[in-house]
Amino acid sequence: MSRSGNPGAEPRRGSALGPGSRGPGASLRRADGKSFTALVRGPGRWPLIGAGLVLVLLIIAGAFTVMESPVPADQWLHQPVASYLLSEGINPNPVQLMRPPALPFSTMATLGQRIFFDTNLSSSGRLSCASCHDPARAYGPPNNLPAMFGGPDLTRQGVRAVPSLMYLETQPNFSIGPDDPTNETVNLTQAAANGQNAARTQKTAQDTAATAANLVPQGGLFWDGRADTLQSQAFFPLLSPFEMDGGSIDAVAAKLRRASYATFFNQLFGPSIFANPRLMVSEAMFAVARYEIEDPAFHPYTSKYDYWLEGKARLTPTEVHGYVLFNDPAKADCGGCHLDQPTPDNLPPLFTDHQFEALAVPRNPALAVNRNPAYFDLGICGPYRTDMASQTQYCGLYLTPTLRNVATRHVFFHNGIYHNLQQVMDFYDFRDVDPAKIYPRGPDGKMEKYNDIPARYWANVDIIDPPFDRKLGDKPAMSATDEKDIIAFLQTLTDGYQLRAGH
Ligand code: HEC
Ligand code: HEC
Repeated sequence: MSRSGNPGAEPRRGSALGPGSRGPGASLRRADGKSFTALVRGPGRWPLIGAGLVLVLLIIAGAFTVMESPVPADQWLHQPVASYLLSEGINPNPVQLMRPPALPFSTMATLGQRIFFDTNLSSSGRLSCASCHDPARAYGPPNNLPAMFGGPDLTRQGVRAVPSLMYLETQPNFSIGPDDPTNETVNLTQAAANGQNAARTQKTAQDTAATAANLVPQGGLFWDGRADTLQSQAFFPLLSPFEMDGGSIDAVAAKLRRASYATFFNQLFGPSIFANPRLMVSEAMFAVARYEIEDPAFHPYTSKYDYWLEGKARLTPTEVHGYVLFNDPAKADCGGCHLDQPTPDNLPPLFTDHQFEALAVPRNPALAVNRNPAYFDLGICGPYRTDMASQTQYCGLYLTPTLRNVATRHVFFHNGIYHNLQQVMDFYDFRDVDPAKIYPRGPDGKMEKYNDIPARYWANVDIIDPPFDRKLGDKPAMSATDEKDIIAFLQTLTDGYQLRAGH
């Protein structure tokens, strides 16, 4: 997940150009020895010699040109050819991404697919997994409601925004500190104690290797990481009274027995499965998990950005500018948490470091649960997960979501407070420097900063990682144009990009 391939070798802002960008020569050669320019076809083709000429021109043009370029000045000076290519929208360091192999569907996954779309399993008869995780919307919410309605007559509002189900195929288990499969003796409480004493490195887009080692909560499913596997996760919505409200294991098993796809159970597990409700539901949820893992629709890696990483698509100047800002620790620094570089073995970036953070997004008055002023959703420390209730240093922390397909969403953050990316950008830009733009005023006229976290946990709020390292009255990290350009970059993360003919 990190750029640990060559940490020391990278210039300060160099990794905006991708790992391995050590200078013009290196940036124009791929691992397989082919020159980069040979890969770029069509009108954008620029032979190496042309780029060399531009280098000379650049030096002459000096500061004037630098000011106008979307690439930070130090890159123009240190890596002129790479910077030139980047300014033309071309990736100077194309890689061949390793996508998950598309295998034929197993019978198990076929069963899972049927279950995923089966509304009969809900008490209302109207909700399936797909009702909230809409395949047409990146398996995220079908609408802009902060939370979906469930229960017997679909009147019970949920408590959190529906996350996308995409790109969870390699989601690590919940742990404190990097998942260490060789060490099974440290329990979460012990790990939390270790974590409290360990120093934490500031997260910047340029040094994600260092922060990957932070002893902080990471991994798991749900906004609070409370489920580890897709199988164990699927039980929650199936039985939750706010969601499918399946009633009980027995009730769900009885429905599965009568389902049109019941023969699959017979075929896969033999007829004895019908006499064992618990096993039957458990296998059903395993089947759903297999479906989510096996169907490439959950992880196609077909965004414009993926193709750009491979040297097959060009970004517009606006998108390039957004990309550079996304990776600039002095600006947006989004890449510090939403990792955007391929791994050293060329797995596509997931736009999350799988770590938890307290960003302190404003309280959402549109959530029914929030009518109770004493109610707080505290993420890791409760109320929906209960094992970490005493670890108050984790109150208010939520899992960093992927940003892939984020532009298809109409509701953002765990409590669904925002409805468009402009609002999200303003939150990142103004939370600390101009909080009056972000938080409401109370009845006494006082601005209620961090109003969705009780004051005793404010110390948990992230004020270290850029862009949150700024103080009241400081210059905002981003200009209005910067915000727009980052949104343009986020729009390149939507799957299903059509490459033009010849590409
Ligand atoms: C009524 C809406 C609703 C239905 C129906 C529903 N979900 Fe969800 N799903 C949610 C919400 C809300 C969350 C986030 C809850 C949380 O974080 O506490 C979620 C979270 C998840 C996650 C975790 C995703 C992540 O990024 O951590 C998975 C996986 C998931 N659901 C799968 C399913 C499956 C499988 C079904 C059908 C058995 C299903 N969901 C049915 C609303 C729903
Ligand atoms: C310190 C780590 C960190 C940094 C830096 C960061 N994010 Fe996030 N991001 C998170 C976390 C954690 C959440 C979820 C927080 C929550 O729901 O309370 C999140 C949520 C989001 C969401 C909502 C996604 C969804 O599905 O609801 C968007 C969009 C987003 N971030 C974009 C950005 C952009 C753009 C930047 C740069 C300006 C950025 N982030 C910088 C950690 C970070």
